[in-house]
Amino acid sequence: RKSVNVGLMGFGTVGTGVVRIVSAHQEDLFKQTGLRIGIHKILVKNKEKKRSLTGYEQLLTTNADEIIYDPEIDIVIEVMGGVEQTKPLILAAIQQGKHVITANKDLMAVYGAEILNAAQENNCDVFYEASVAGGIPILRALVESFSSDRITKMMGIVNGTTNYILSKMSREGADYHQVLKEAQKLGYAEADPTSDVEGLDAARKMAILSTLGFRVPVNLDEVDVKGISHISREDIAYGKKLGYEIKLLGLAQRDDDEIEVSVEPTLVHKSHPLASVNGVFNAVCVHGEAVGETMFYGPGAGELPTATAVVSDLVTVVKNMKLGVNGRGMVAPYKEKKLKTDDK
Ligand code: NAP
Ligand code: HSE
Repeated sequence: RKSVNVGLMGFGTVGTGVVRIVSAHQEDLFKQTGLRIGIHKILVKNKEKKRSLTGYEQLLTTNADEIIYDPEIDIVIEVMGGVEQTKPLILAAIQQGKHVITANKDLMAVYGAEILNAAQENNCDVFYEASVAGGIPILRALVESFSSDRITKMMGIVNGTTNYILSKMSREGADYHQVLKEAQKLGYAEADPTSDVEGLDAARKMAILSTLGFRVPVNLDEVDVKGISHISREDIAYGKKLGYEIKLLGLAQRDDDEIEVSVEPTLVHKSHPLASVNGVFNAVCVHGEAVGETMFYGPGAGELPTATAVVSDLVTVVKNMKLGVNGRGMVAPYKEKKLKTDDK
C-alpha cells in the first residue's frame, strides 16, 4: 500500500485545523510514515454551511454510514463532539476494523474503557491525545514518559475557556459574559459552554488524567466539581490585593490506595508558576516519586493547537499500520490483552 484514507467526522474548529495541518504538512507526514495520508470524506451536520476552509465541498456528507462502511477508509477521526451521537458511530467504526482518533473528552471520560476494550478486541488503535489540554502532549507523557515512575499528584489548569475568562477579568477587569462570548467566538468553548464554566469539562479531563496517570480507572462521578460562574470581578480584585490569582484548578492526588480528584476555583499565590498561566493556555504539574516535580505548559484549546495533537495521533496510527502493530500499544491501562497462546 502507498496511502491511507481518513474519514473525518466533524469539520468545525478542530476538524478544520486537522485538514489544514494534513494538507500543509503533507510531505513531512509522508517522510515520517512512508504513506500518503488523504482525507477521503467529511461528515457534517449541514452541507450548505459557509466554511472558513474551502475546496473540500465534494468530500462532505451528512451520512455517517458513508464513512463507517466505506472499505477504502482506514482511519476515523471523530471531532464532532457529543456522547449519544458519537459513541455508536465510534463503536461501529471499530467493528469495521477502523482505527479511531478522537478529541472527545465527554465520551472518553465516561466510555473510555468500553471503547478501548472494543478496539483491542478488533486489533484497532484508539488515540485521544487532544481530549486533554489541547496542544500539550500530556497523555503520551503520562503513559510513556512516566512509565518508570509512580505519579502521586497532578495539579493544573486544564480548561482554556475558563482560564481565558479569569485572566481577562484579572488583567483587564473585563466582564464575565463578554469574555465568555469572545471565547466562544475564538472556538475555545464547548458547544454548550456550561460544561466549561461549571467545571465539568475540566472534571472530565481530570478523570482521564487520573486514570492514565495513576493507572486505575477513575470515574467522572468520583470527581468533586465547582465552576467559576459565581466568581466576580470583586473576588478577583480582592485576591490580587492579597497577592493571589484565582484559577480553576484540577487536582488529583493519591495517598497509598486513596485517590482524590477535584476541580475548583482556587487562590494561587503569584509566586507559583500556575498563577502566571494566562489566556487560553493550560499547564499541568505532575509529581512523580522518582522524578519529583515536572510541569507541562501550552495552548489548551483552539483550532491549530488542538489539531496538532489529533494529527500526531494520526501519525502514530499510520506508523503502527506500516509496522502491523495496531491494537497493541494502547494508550490506556484498561484491560490486559489475551495473547493468542493463552487461548489454547
Ligand atoms: P465544532 O466547531 O462545534 O464542530 C463540530 C463539527 O461536527 C461541525 O462541523 C458539525 O457540522 C459537526 N457535527 C456536529 N454534530 C453532528 C452530527 N450530529 N452529525 C454530523 N455532523 C455533526 O466543535 P469543535 O470545537 O471542533 O470540537 C469538536 C470536538 O473536539 C469536541 O468533542 C470538543 O470537546 C473537542 N475539543 C475541542 C477543542 C477546541 O478547542 N475547540 C479542543 C479540544 C477538544 P456543521 O459544521 O455542519 O455544523
Ligand atoms: N472547551 C475546552 C477548553 C476545549 O476551553 O479547554 C479544549 O478541550
